[in-house]
Amino acid sequence: MPKLVINGAKKLRGEIRIHGAKNSTLPLMAASLVCGGECVLHNCPSLSDVDTSIRILRYLGCSVTSSEGSVAIDPASADHFDIPDHLMREMRSSIIFLGAIVSRMGRAVLSFPGGCELGPRPIDLHLSALRKMGVVIDEDHGCLNCSVPNGLKGAVISLSFPSVGATENILIAAVLAKGTTVVNNAAREPEICDLADFLNSCGAKIRGAGESTIVVEGVKSLTGCEHDVIPDRIAAATYLAAAAATGSVLTVKNVVPRHLEPIIPVLEESGCRLEMDGDRIRISAPPRLKRIKNVRTMPYPGFPTDAQAPVMAMASVAEGTSVFVENIFESRYKHVGELLRLGANIKVEGRVAIVEGVDHLSGAAVEATDLRGGAALVIAGLAAQGRTQITGLHHLDRGYEKIESNLARLGADIVRI
Ligand code: UD1
Repeated sequence: MPKLVINGAKKLRGEIRIHGAKNSTLPLMAASLVCGGECVLHNCPSLSDVDTSIRILRYLGCSVTSSEGSVAIDPASADHFDIPDHLMREMRSSIIFLGAIVSRMGRAVLSFPGGCELGPRPIDLHLSALRKMGVVIDEDHGCLNCSVPNGLKGAVISLSFPSVGATENILIAAVLAKGTTVVNNAAREPEICDLADFLNSCGAKIRGAGESTIVVEGVKSLTGCEHDVIPDRIAAATYLAAAAATGSVLTVKNVVPRHLEPIIPVLEESGCRLEMDGDRIRISAPPRLKRIKNVRTMPYPGFPTDAQAPVMAMASVAEGTSVFVENIFESRYKHVGELLRLGANIKVEGRVAIVEGVDHLSGAAVEATDLRGGAALVIAGLAAQGRTQITGLHHLDRGYEKIESNLARLGADIVRI
């Protein structure tokens, strides 16, 4: 079983280039299915979730080539409308293909994504929106059978929660629908803007991405385009939290500092100094972090749920009590049990976690149970005294490109064996 072995309590230094955003790349790849020509996505990260998306697109009949961070997708030969169950299970977010497949093929057969490491993963908002747009959906034995008897049509959709995936599915389905679609209470994450920018470059008419109301005027056809994926703000937050937890000075480059605005005040509150310079952020951490009074995860521009676990690892070695409230996912504290093994002092009560900072963590054998929880263990292992071994690396490989060689280059003592 592969594992990461970290000899901790070493400072990080230098610069790290942040890879393209996983959470942008996946919807962009799905969206390329509705385009009328080849789409070339640059700055694509090399991650297992991206490989799974490539396999899904190839299964659907698209021609996909990938080389040195660029993925070229030609959807002309797409001829399948289903996604096999094993691919759906590999990546719960493959539901993002639903809007694209019904738009392109007029039919879709997908298995229901079911639960995942973060708890139940409902898709009711995706389904009710697509139904409003004319998709007939039959839910049968864990399978979604979708057809579009009269073509996709624009609709006014008011989301009860600004779901990122539902907003993306609606945008992708709406660009070629007949008439205008209005999405109220839309998600405002930077990845939504990236998707809208990509589709608009292909000839779509989307206004208001990044705001709560998005308006999509359906067009008859789209072209292909070349597009640069935005940097991964969560990977950037993870490396910043690693620097903070180890008392280091580190520069993350190829970032959009504006996208990290919800995280920067939290790092500053812990006593770190942050300097922005173009597409770089330099963090200088104090020898001992201060407590973070309150971290409440919220939809963007609130504090991202994906950064909750990495920042909790950092708070576990801060001086004093930090409080976390997880408002997005039901079951997003699975990393806590593993952090306890490393000597952290954390109590969880429902959606609240109380972190009493300890003087130091001590290395131990731990297991990553989800992607960002795994990143939290890496950060804790880097900060801990002694040797930490982390298993469950397939979770980490879904979202972090070459994490061990990147950290080793920055001065960490970390190997994968
Ligand atoms: C995306 C991100 C994920 C991030 C999350 C929240 C991708 C590939 N993944 O996931 O990393 O943690 O946004 O920022 O971009 N919900 C419903 N019904 C629905 C859809 C969602 O109840 O139909 C609920 C979910 O259970 C969850 C909340 O809404 O509690 C947020 O989910 P959503 O914004 O949809 O997250 P994803 O798009 O799945």
